[in-house]
Amino acid sequence: MQDILNDICKTITAEPNKGKVASYIPELACIDPEQFGISVALPDGQVFNAGSAHQLFSIQSISKVFTLTIALGKLGDAIWSRVGREPSGDPFNSIVQLEHEGGKPRNPFINAGAIAVTDAIMMGHKPRETLGEILQFVRFIADDNSIGIDEKVAQSEKLTGDRNASLAHFMAAFGNLKNPVEQVLGTYFHHCSISMSCEQLAQAGLFLVSDGINESTGFRVVSAQRARRINSLMMMCGHYDGSGEFAYRVGLPGKSGVGGGILAIAPGKASIAVWSPGLDSIGNSKLGTQALELLVQKTGWSIF
Ligand code: DON
Repeated sequence: MQDILNDICKTITAEPNKGKVASYIPELACIDPEQFGISVALPDGQVFNAGSAHQLFSIQSISKVFTLTIALGKLGDAIWSRVGREPSGDPFNSIVQLEHEGGKPRNPFINAGAIAVTDAIMMGHKPRETLGEILQFVRFIADDNSIGIDEKVAQSEKLTGDRNASLAHFMAAFGNLKNPVEQVLGTYFHHCSISMSCEQLAQAGLFLVSDGINESTGFRVVSAQRARRINSLMMMCGHYDGSGEFAYRVGLPGKSGVGGGILAIAPGKASIAVWSPGLDSIGNSKLGTQALELLVQKTGWSIF
């Protein structure tokens, strides 16, 4: 495995076209696109790294996997009255479907869906309390208490967050937000601003590899059925309007973030995190996707 990762790292770092770093969040616009990291965590506790696998980056929308998991724990299937389970076929920050679909976002991974999920888990609590709960959960599944939030990124998101604010107000007008819009947005911006390394992220994904149990720590995080369902949502919706392309090229459930990270799950085999800050035109990591494509070719880990 180490040789495979070293090879991938060599190929990816030699690629001339790295994609473009997210510019709509100023704090992310200044990240060096030349960086690359990959980490593969196996259920038996082994971890393989290559490149900048210990470098912290902004996990952005990958946090939506964690907030969905918390929401399912708190509300169970009731969450599905607030958000759907279908791919949107539209960009991650699109507002168009909301108007025709009664303010109910298509899925929990587009921005509108994740804002509704964030609102659902707040349950009348203050942002600080909800964020404490989200961080505690992420630290638990990653087995790492050092994980935190990059306050500068959160403030940067807030400054340029008009589009997310529009989505939130629009949903509030349909009665699909229960807490004050400003508080929901503040909580959402902050959980998107959690910083993690590839190694921490791969570790955090382990519960989705082994039917809900993080075998490296021995803790059950969710039921087997729930783990399978979260994986299915990642497969169908984890890359927005690029989800079909990701399924075609990589063939694994995955969730991307505009920080350039991707968490991919090979059920029964491994949890994989890659990071390359340059994005494709849809907003998914360009070389991160290529690295996963190479990894799956070399390991045969596609679920198909
Ligand atoms: O709300 C936003 O736009 C960002 N905090 C997250 C978007 C994101 O990561 C989309 N993923 N590729």
